[in-house]
Amino acid sequence: MRLVVIANRLPITVKSLDPVKLERSPGGLVSGIETFIKKARISDWVWMGWGGSNLRKKDVQKIKELLLNKHRCLPAYVPEKIMNKFYNGFCNRTLWPLFHSMPTLATYEKSTWESYIEVNRIFLKTLLENLEVGKETHIWIHDYHLMLLPGMLREVHPEAKIGFFLHIPFPPPEIYAQLPWRREILEGLLGADLIGFHTYEYTINFLRSLSRVLGIEHSMGELVYLDRLLKVDTFPMGIDFELFNSIKGVSKKTKAIKQALGNKKIVFSVDRLDYTKGIYNRLLAFEDFLRRREDWRGKVVLILNVVPSREGVEQYQSMKRQIEEKVAQINGTFGSVEWVPVLYHYKSLSVEDLVAHYKASDVLLVTPIKDGMNLIAKEFVASRRDLRGVLVLSEFAGSSRELGEALVVNPNSVEELSKAIELALEMPPEEQESRLRIMQDRLKRYDVLKWGSEFLETLKGIASKRDTLKTKELGDRLSRKLKDMFRSAKSRLLLVDYDGTLVPLAKRPQLAVPTQEIKDILYLLGMLENTQVVLISGRKKGAAASVVWGSTYNPCCRARLLGKGAKERLG
Ligand code: F6P
Repeated sequence: MRLVVIANRLPITVKSLDPVKLERSPGGLVSGIETFIKKARISDWVWMGWGGSNLRKKDVQKIKELLLNKHRCLPAYVPEKIMNKFYNGFCNRTLWPLFHSMPTLATYEKSTWESYIEVNRIFLKTLLENLEVGKETHIWIHDYHLMLLPGMLREVHPEAKIGFFLHIPFPPPEIYAQLPWRREILEGLLGADLIGFHTYEYTINFLRSLSRVLGIEHSMGELVYLDRLLKVDTFPMGIDFELFNSIKGVSKKTKAIKQALGNKKIVFSVDRLDYTKGIYNRLLAFEDFLRRREDWRGKVVLILNVVPSREGVEQYQSMKRQIEEKVAQINGTFGSVEWVPVLYHYKSLSVEDLVAHYKASDVLLVTPIKDGMNLIAKEFVASRRDLRGVLVLSEFAGSSRELGEALVVNPNSVEELSKAIELALEMPPEEQESRLRIMQDRLKRYDVLKWGSEFLETLKGIASKRDTLKTKELGDRLSRKLKDMFRSAKSRLLLVDYDGTLVPLAKRPQLAVPTQEIKDILYLLGMLENTQVVLISGRKKGAAASVVWGSTYNPCCRARLLGKGAKERLG
C-alpha cells in the first residue's frame, strides 16, 4: 500500500536554507500521524503540505529534492499574500470560529474564500505534478484547511481512494448553515470515499447538514453522491500510549519542578493560545477557589503554560492581553513574597518537559469551551504510571466521550469549575487510582495505531464496495435472456431503483423528477397481469406523490432495465 498524507503543515519546518536547518513542526495532528506511520510500519509513504512562510518559489524548488528524498515530504509553494488570506483569513477567521460553534466571531469575506479555493487548487496541482495516483495509492487528506481538495481530486481521478479526516468539531447544522459557502464545502468533502470525525456528535452534525443543505440522506453512514457510494464514520484519535506511559529520563525534571515550588500542590494547565481553550475562565475559577478557600492559600500553585499560536489573528492577540492582565491581578491580590499563585509561561514545551509537568502535577485542567478531541487530556492520563493525579475535563472536549472517569465539568460555569479544582485537590489517593486505571485501560486499547489502522481499513473497504457497485452495461446476450425470462414468467416482481437509474441524480431530491416517458413505462408495466412493480429509493415514503416508493434501498438493483425506447423493447 502506498500512503499519501496531505495536511496544511508538513511534519518538518524549514527554518533556514543556508545552511539548511529543519525543525519538527508543532501540533497534535503532526505527531499523531507520524507516530501512526511509524507504528503501522508503513514503508511507502509521502507527506505533502505547505512549504513554509519563509520560502520563496525558487527556494521551494531548491529544497524539494532534499525534503522528498530524505524526509518523504513534498512541499507545496503558496505565495505569501495568498497564504496569509488563506490561513489567517478563511481558515482561522471563518472556519475555525464557526466550526467551534462561535459564529459571532466568524467573518465572511469573499476574497479570503477565493484564497481558500486557490490554495486547495495549488495543493491539487502540486500533487498531480509530483506524485502518481495509482490503484494502490491511498490518499489521506487532513483537516479544515483542505476541504475542497477531495472534490477537486475526484474530478481528475474518479477511481482514486480518497479519505478525509476532520481534526476539529463539525458544528450543528443550524450553525454550519450560516456559512455562505456551505454547499461548496460539503460538495468538496463528498469527493472523498470516507469522511471521518473524532466523535459521533460531529458525525451526526455532518450528516444532518448534508440533509439540510444538499438534501442528501444516508443509511447507516453510507450515502450515494453523483452515482458513487461513500461513507461517513467516527474514529476518535488516540495517542502513543506506550510513549507517554513509559517515557524515560524525565524524573530529574519532575523532581526539579516539585522542589522549585517547595512541594506545594500543583495545578497544571497547558494549551495553545486560543479562545476555544477556555483559559480565561480557568483563571476566573482558580481566583474563585482562592477566594472561597483561604486555607489553601500559600499551599497551591497554578502553572499556566500558554503555547504561542496564530499571532497574525487579532482575536488571539487581544486574548493574550486579557489573560496576562488576569494573571497579574490574581497574583497581585492573593500573592505574597513567599508565594506566587499563578506561574505564567508563554512558550512551547518539549515532550520531555511536558511529561515532566504532567508527572509533577496533582491536577490537570483541560477545560476548553469547545475542542475537537484534545490529546493533552489523554497524554496526562497515560503518563501517570504512578496512578496519581486528577484530570478536570470539559464536557465540550471530544476526549470527554472516552474519559468519563475524569471530573467532567461545564467550563462556562466558574462555580462548577472552581468546585472541581477543590474536589480534585482533595480527592483521596484510592479514588485517583481507580479513575486513572479505568481510563488508562481504555486509552491503551484504542491508541493512535488503532485509530489510523481502522480509518485506512474502512477506506479500503468502502472503496472496494464502491467499485463492485458500479453500474455494468447490459449487453445484447443478457438483454435477450432477460426479455425471454420476463415473457415466460408466470408472475413477475420488478424491483426498480429510482435515483440514478430512473432519473438522473440531482443535487436536491425535489429536482429528481421522472420524465413523462418513464411514467408511461411504469404505468404500462403496472397494467401487465401478474406483474408487480416496486420502486426502490432511500428517501422517506410518500416524499414524492407522483411515484410509489419502496421502503428499502437495495443498491444491488441498479440494472438499467428501463431506458429510452423501453416500450418497444418490452413489446
Ligand atoms: O486542532 C486542529 C489543528 O489544526 C491541529 O491539527 C493543530 O495542531 C492545531 O490545530 C494548530 O494548528 P496551526 O498551528 O497549524 O494553526
